[in-house]
Amino acid sequence: MNTDNSIPDYMALFEHYEPVCIDLGVGVMNDLCTDFLLEPEKHSAATFVIGGQSHTKSGARADLTNMVLRCDFESRIVCDVPAEPDLDDVRRIVTAIRESASTDVVAIGGGSVMDAAKAAWAAYQADLDVSELFGSNVLGTKFPGKEFKRIVAVPTTAGTGSEVTPYSNVVDRAAGVKRLIADEQIVPRMALVNPYYGRSMPDGLTVATALDALTHNIEALLNIHAKETESASNKWAVEAVGLICRGLPRALRDPNDVDAREYLCAAATIGGIQIAHRPTSLPHLGSFSLYGRIAHGTAAALLLGPFWRYYLAEPAVQERTMLLADVFPSKKKQKTPQDVVDAASAFIAKYSGVAKLSALPFFDTAMVDKIAADAALNPMKLASAPRPLDPGSATEIISGILKQEL
Ligand SMILES: [Fe+2]
Repeated sequence: MNTDNSIPDYMALFEHYEPVCIDLGVGVMNDLCTDFLLEPEKHSAATFVIGGQSHTKSGARADLTNMVLRCDFESRIVCDVPAEPDLDDVRRIVTAIRESASTDVVAIGGGSVMDAAKAAWAAYQADLDVSELFGSNVLGTKFPGKEFKRIVAVPTTAGTGSEVTPYSNVVDRAAGVKRLIADEQIVPRMALVNPYYGRSMPDGLTVATALDALTHNIEALLNIHAKETESASNKWAVEAVGLICRGLPRALRDPNDVDAREYLCAAATIGGIQIAHRPTSLPHLGSFSLYGRIAHGTAAALLLGPFWRYYLAEPAVQERTMLLADVFPSKKKQKTPQDVVDAASAFIAKYSGVAKLSALPFFDTAMVDKIAADAALNPMKLASAPRPLDPGSATEIISGILKQEL
């Protein structure tokens, strides 16, 4: 556990967060064992959902093996859930759950693995195809009053915050889009966050996931239309950004710096709490049009600056922006909202290695047109943006915002 007094007490935040039982630290997999052994009759068969290699390299697989040996239950493992899982990947997990008559689903991996497991566990219990879950609160509407069982999430990266969110992104290949399930019934019941698992991440993944967490926290902070809650407060969003500014350079200098890894994990989980209560807006919406071409976190972070500058016309956004004054490192004192956005953009450029969209090797202006056209299809996000957009003019305005910064 971190003992630096200048670091915010995120453990207290997690301890009192009611929607999810969050534990952060080394050895958190033991919690799962304790949980299962406490009521063995309720936990007789578990499906473990894992990705490609990260579970082995991170040490999570070894912890899982130890746990299975200690606890007396049937276990089934679904391997190789890919990044950007699609409908068939989720259906494969549903089949495994059905065949093993699982009482529990445990996801061990990054956001893709957790998202796929959340969707599969819900689809199985609802006896629906995963494609029928897309949209907002489908389960709550179709099954009023029903309490769905929820997964246990063990993140091995520090970015998406999926371990605490009601969201699952699944690719619909036939439609060529990434689609969203947003439902309180898929919030994991338990999040076991082990900073040690991040040590094996390649630098590129450390950066992309940290930038995802950074963007979640900033987009939530700028979401002036959503209600601030005690756990999703401006203070915590700012603290999380500070943790990333502190942790990311250290984790890149020394991948085994466990304090730095812990800061990144804490910031990612805080980001998840933030967006669970104060959803993301245009940067994330735009990033979905770039799936498969660039890491999600990098895409969202690259789009953050242009949209943030557009939002600054709103006085309330200016005010929120100033809460981040001097959080990002810069040579000059950050006296205006523009200074803060410039410092954030410089930080993103430094670590992603890309200053703007047009610097991407595969960039063409059709990318901008696609982002703008796709975004116009989501009137809900446009209306809830810090500076709302009218669907009729959204394509033109978004295209203008992005082309201005090429
Ligand atoms: Fe994200």
